[in-house]
Amino acid sequence: MDAIHHDRARDDYQRMDDERARKGPPEGFPRLPDIPGRRYVDPEFLTLEKDRMWKRAWLYAGHTDQVATPGRWFLTRNTGAPVIVLRDLKGEVRAFYNTCQHRGAPLVTGDAGEARGFVCGYHGWSYTLEGKLTAVRDKRDFVELDFACRSLVPVRCEMLGSLIFINEDPDAQPLIDHIGPMARELDQFQLDRLRLVDSRSYEVGCNVKVLLDAFLEVYHIKSIHQSTVDRFLDHRGMIVTLWPNGHSRMCTPNSRPDWKDPGTIGMPRIDTVGDLAANNNVSYHIYPNFVMPPSDSGIPILQFWPTGPRSCRVVSSWIAPDHDPEQPHPLWETRIRNWERILYEDLQYAPQIQDSLESGGFRGIPLNYQERRIYHWHEELDRRIGLNQVPPEARVEQVLGDWVTR
Ligand code: FES
Ligand SMILES: [Fe+2]
Repeated sequence: MDAIHHDRARDDYQRMDDERARKGPPEGFPRLPDIPGRRYVDPEFLTLEKDRMWKRAWLYAGHTDQVATPGRWFLTRNTGAPVIVLRDLKGEVRAFYNTCQHRGAPLVTGDAGEARGFVCGYHGWSYTLEGKLTAVRDKRDFVELDFACRSLVPVRCEMLGSLIFINEDPDAQPLIDHIGPMARELDQFQLDRLRLVDSRSYEVGCNVKVLLDAFLEVYHIKSIHQSTVDRFLDHRGMIVTLWPNGHSRMCTPNSRPDWKDPGTIGMPRIDTVGDLAANNNVSYHIYPNFVMPPSDSGIPILQFWPTGPRSCRVVSSWIAPDHDPEQPHPLWETRIRNWERILYEDLQYAPQIQDSLESGGFRGIPLNYQERRIYHWHEELDRRIGLNQVPPEARVEQVLGDWVTR
């Protein structure tokens, strides 16, 4: 792994130098057509987006620490539908709709807990943690009730290390294949042994894409992160890798090559992290809404969830090596507070941007070369909806195909 990583890193540093030196976008880079504003406000488009993209996407549901032992479960509603994620008695992580197969009552009503099985609160049907229906009250009154056909409905559930992803589409491509080349790169972070340190969420008054866009570029750091991130990052050396299926990576060099975050000195490290991620600001994006800028001493993970046409939720968590929840490292408190300050900087204009998108003052979004991950994201959305299903006035043209690393 090391040799490959080092070669790659040399190549990446060369690319950073090229980015700093260039006088314009590289030869042949297309003009990016404006992103139509109606993609953020048009109810017809938002319904297509929800049904054809969100309901069929691999979405982060939670961390294995939330289901640390057999019988532990938590409920997630981020996809709209209520889904129970649990660890069964054999240790396997599974997901089911929180939907009793009798008349649809919920099996669990809290946010998290521990159970040996589920008994529906409405008429008492009982299920195992594997979802099998085992007991029905007054069974004699049902005619030909086939227990085998009344198991809980499973939701696809697959792991990226300790990160649990779910997908409501039973025919979805397996998560790791779907992530493709990024999955190999993520090996260096040993995601399977990272513990959950913290998780909190923020409600924001804008369409979810207003915020997603903000986390796909560093063009904004000189303005809104002037007194934070901009002090140590050189956005003009930023390099981008676009991957298939809408995923991507950006890597922004530190302004000074020897810079180390003073707020992490003495914290446990993931010793397999390569030079690039340890000494620069890499940020991975798993389509559609998972953002991860890892460091070797801890990784923030962000998800962006649509809660309405003009509202969304941001969930921000931290995972880290050798974390003991009973005795967290003393630097975590400040580190999380500093991170939150940066987040607030990112969120500050979101509701006003939404107002603009809904006003007559907005014409469309002209993106530059540095912002091409945003365009890549939108192209993928149209591919998932189906190119000829997208209303022509809301469509983005497919122009970045040649710039995707396959
Ligand atoms: S709805 Fe669950 S037992 Fe009736
Ligand atoms: Fe930002």
